[in-house]
Amino acid sequence: MSQPLAATASEHFRPVALEHASRLINHGPTVLISSAHGAHRNIMAAAWSMPVEFTPPRIAVVIDKSTWTRELVKQSGSFGIIVPGAARMDLTYAVGSASGRDEDKFARHQIAARTGPVLGMPVLEQGCAAWLECRWLPQGQTEDAYDTLFGEVVSAAADVRIFENGHWNFTEDNADLHTLHHLGAGKFVVAGNQLQARQD
Ligand SMILES: Cc1cc2nc3c(=O)[nH]c(=O)nc-3n(C[C@H](O)[C@H](O)[C@H](O)COP(=O)(O)O)c2cc1C
Repeated sequence: MSQPLAATASEHFRPVALEHASRLINHGPTVLISSAHGAHRNIMAAAWSMPVEFTPPRIAVVIDKSTWTRELVKQSGSFGIIVPGAARMDLTYAVGSASGRDEDKFARHQIAARTGPVLGMPVLEQGCAAWLECRWLPQGQTEDAYDTLFGEVVSAAADVRIFENGHWNFTEDNADLHTLHHLGAGKFVVAGNQLQARQD
């Protein structure tokens, strides 16, 4: 397997406090799931993920048993969640439309990844809003019955141009980082029409 490109750290990414990590996927963006074990690395798209606990921060994601990702997660005990921006729409669809068993998606799409600081999961920053590293929490029954895997978030970071001090801020200026929501068959909408509810 060819060596994937290494990325330098984005100057815009900063660590996210773990108590705020659930906010990174609270609004239901389509995410990328990264995995790595031994010499292998992989990445797939996932529309189905959600937070399930604030403290400790835990999340759930549906990873079909047919995917290579599922095998790698079970082998390594870890996975990464990347929140791609609109700039990464084509990549998101592409890595969700082919299996890493058949091709090295990092090489095929020239994905430059960094290595996550705690679990060593591949993380993407260019064109992405945020990433999280998760330690897999085995739950045999829900995995077998519903393809749902749980993970505890152990590190997270986000691009301060769109997520700062624990809060998203979608503006016209950061449209490339607006998160993606899959409608089906490669059609997406981006989150962006930010509204503020009355606080009284
Ligand atoms: C936009 C999009 C969303 C997807 N969401 C999910 C999902 O939530 N869960 C899942 O198991 N597969 C989902 N898929 C399909 C996987 O990404 C696909 O099966 C992928 O090829 C698996 O790659 P792998 O075998 O390299 O792990 C999605 C695909 C796309 C394009």
